[in-house]
Amino acid sequence: MAYAGYNMHNVHPKVNNEAAIMNSHHINDIVFTDRQIRTRVDAMVLELAADCRSEDLVMIGILRGSFMFLADLVRDFYLHQLHPRIDFMTLESYGSGTESSGQVRITKDISVDVTDADVVLVDDILDTGRTLAFAREQVVNKGARSVKTCTLLDKPSRRVVPVEADYVGFTIDDHFVVGYGLDYDHHYRELPYLAKVTFTDPETV
Ligand code: IMP
Ligand code: MG
Repeated sequence: MAYAGYNMHNVHPKVNNEAAIMNSHHINDIVFTDRQIRTRVDAMVLELAADCRSEDLVMIGILRGSFMFLADLVRDFYLHQLHPRIDFMTLESYGSGTESSGQVRITKDISVDVTDADVVLVDDILDTGRTLAFAREQVVNKGARSVKTCTLLDKPSRRVVPVEADYVGFTIDDHFVVGYGLDYDHHYRELPYLAKVTFTDPETV
């Protein structure tokens, strides 16, 4: 599907000087438009508003993929008298490219005290499950009263660790997607929509 106002990518690493790790690809296939995302996020806000009435609500975004999703989620919270504290935790497992190294580590921990707080962990995508399971354990160990999990995307067919999110935006098939915070080798996070990455080099298809 063509997208008005955006120059379609057809990246050839050697031509545009990208790091060699990025394989030739294009992102011409939109999976969810910005309007579809907005509609779904609005519905998720209503779900959260109904469930998360707490004197001490803390929203924790897992960076970097969740920054746009978390911002859009909390933007209308005041309309529902939800006034959370907000913090971020940077976790890394992907080296570069599209394959996880399997080992999750914290590169920046939260600074707020979550003792006895009701926490909602927000991530961009639930893939193998390693990141969300790890993040959940960290927050439970810090003494949170409750921990709920919220992810924009879910790829259940990829699961390695048995973890499900309490709130899921969209369930998708096993393809690599970018935009709305999600990256391919640190690129495309700025796109307001979600698009499929299609590899065009026969060796990586
Ligand atoms: P998990 O630990 O395998 O569940 O992976 C979660 C993390 O992997 C996410 O927070 C993303 O940063 C990254 N990831 C997984 N699938 C995709 C994708 O299709 N596009 C971009 N990033 C992805
Ligand atoms: Mg990522």
